[in-house]
Amino acid sequence: MNEKATRNSRAMLAGPHRAGARAMLRALGMRDEDFQKPQIGVAATWNRSTPCNAGLDKLRGQAASDLMAAGLYAHEFDTISVSDGISMGSEGMRASLVSRDWIADSVELMVRAHGYDGFIGIAGCDKSIPGMLLAIVRMGVPAIFAYAGSLAPGRTGGRDISLQDVYEAVGAHQSGSISLQELTEIEVAACPGIGTCAGMFSANTMASVSEALGLTVPGMASPPAAHADRMSATVRAAGALADAVENGRVPSKFLSKQSLENAAAVASALGGSTNGCLHLLAIASEVGIPFTLQDIDRVSRRTPQLTDMKPAGRFMMRDLHRAGGVPAVMRELLSAGLLHGDAMTITGRTIAEEVRNFAPGEPHPVLRGVGNPVKPRGGYAVLTGSLAPDGAVMKIANESRMKHRGPARCFNSELEAAAAVRAGKISSDDVVVLRFEGPVGGPGMPEMTALTGVLAGAGLGAEVAVVTDGRFGGGTRGLSVGHIAPEAALSGPIAFVCDGDTIEIDIERGLIDLLVSPEELARRREHTTLPPPRVTTGVLAKYARLAGSAATGAVSRADEGEGALPGKPYPGQG
Ligand code: FES
Repeated sequence: MNEKATRNSRAMLAGPHRAGARAMLRALGMRDEDFQKPQIGVAATWNRSTPCNAGLDKLRGQAASDLMAAGLYAHEFDTISVSDGISMGSEGMRASLVSRDWIADSVELMVRAHGYDGFIGIAGCDKSIPGMLLAIVRMGVPAIFAYAGSLAPGRTGGRDISLQDVYEAVGAHQSGSISLQELTEIEVAACPGIGTCAGMFSANTMASVSEALGLTVPGMASPPAAHADRMSATVRAAGALADAVENGRVPSKFLSKQSLENAAAVASALGGSTNGCLHLLAIASEVGIPFTLQDIDRVSRRTPQLTDMKPAGRFMMRDLHRAGGVPAVMRELLSAGLLHGDAMTITGRTIAEEVRNFAPGEPHPVLRGVGNPVKPRGGYAVLTGSLAPDGAVMKIANESRMKHRGPARCFNSELEAAAAVRAGKISSDDVVVLRFEGPVGGPGMPEMTALTGVLAGAGLGAEVAVVTDGRFGGGTRGLSVGHIAPEAALSGPIAFVCDGDTIEIDIERGLIDLLVSPEELARRREHTTLPPPRVTTGVLAKYARLAGSAATGAVSRADEGEGALPGKPYPGQG
């Protein structure tokens, strides 16, 4: 290994004055020669609390032993992970996005405190993946991502099902269209083993994005958790990291606007989750690359959707793996000039070189060619207008109408709105407005997926629009507009919508307007007192003080957020 490969660890471990640090590490079995090697963090979001992360101890152990065999010294550690699938539809959901930043911060603290020369981040859930990716681009050392892999789909009634089917079955049961026994059969069958959610939901979207960004080896995203290719992808990632350490390849140095556009293109071609937009903006802001919602919209409009995957389609991640995984998708996009082939990756090769070298899969209806796409444009639509001056994001689902105009029905929490649906108080054409659920107001910008499940279960999924300053999960369907910015807690226009106001959405033109005169809006702004913060202590309150706008990724940083401005009162207290 060249000298630069141990720059951080030399400062930590070399010389008589560092004897105390070495003494501690000798207790773990380290010997004299080990102190000369590059010291590598092997970070995982392992736990036995979430199926998405429960298999990561094996991947972590494999990566560590491969790194040791390659002449580096591996230090294994775990950090937290929050399962959206468990917390969805509960107060626990407020912890989800916050955990993304906490994971990045906790990995930073470990790498910084112990002088690691590089690290591998292994993760398996919606926020764990972007949390690891944020740490990877933040730390200024060679680093690579590895993924848990998705679980096998469940099967009942002769069809494949996923967690999304359970949430929709809850809605169907509440509206009386299925029995408790039918709901229980779906619940029991949906998750037949460990791994991440099986469709193109947020975790698989972000795992695919990690390939497109060049922050992992090709073929990392698609192998299921139980497939032999899962372990071999981890082995390849450990090998690529050893090479990156030797050659000083650092993600923040090769990541570019082209990498981010590639990621937006791949997420669009996959019909990925809108969470992907939020996390791409966060990664861009972490590295300081100017990349906006409008960039995502531009890329999505020019990129056809090539895969037919759940939630809107038929197939799962397992099927995309058979078709050649994310490299097969990138091959199609490259052939049509829709990807920047010269964007660099952590392997030291370009995206085009990696895709060319990767073995093709077998033809499968999950993946179509650019000449015969599932949809002519990608699934992301960015909307702006008088209701969302800084932007809003939605995923164009199969059943989404391209235009919607209807009366607002306002709620200050998802639970209130779901209760109104169950009580039959929401009619077709209504626009359900859910506010004070943004990064600051939530806090933590919770997902409103339980509500869209209840609407779908009540047969209103295709007829009602939902608009919110919160988020939607990858399993969301229908006309669901999230990430409305500025958010209600920061006095965005959504705070001042009244029941019965007309809201107009035009997806093709990228518009979301509140049809209320500026004078009336100004009057309401003057006479409305915003509700006080929901949470005033602990980590959620800390996040609320530092969180930036959803339009820039809702990251909590020292230079972001209302709380970062000295002397400024917490929103709602001023
Ligand atoms: Fe963890 Fe879906 S809840 S991947």
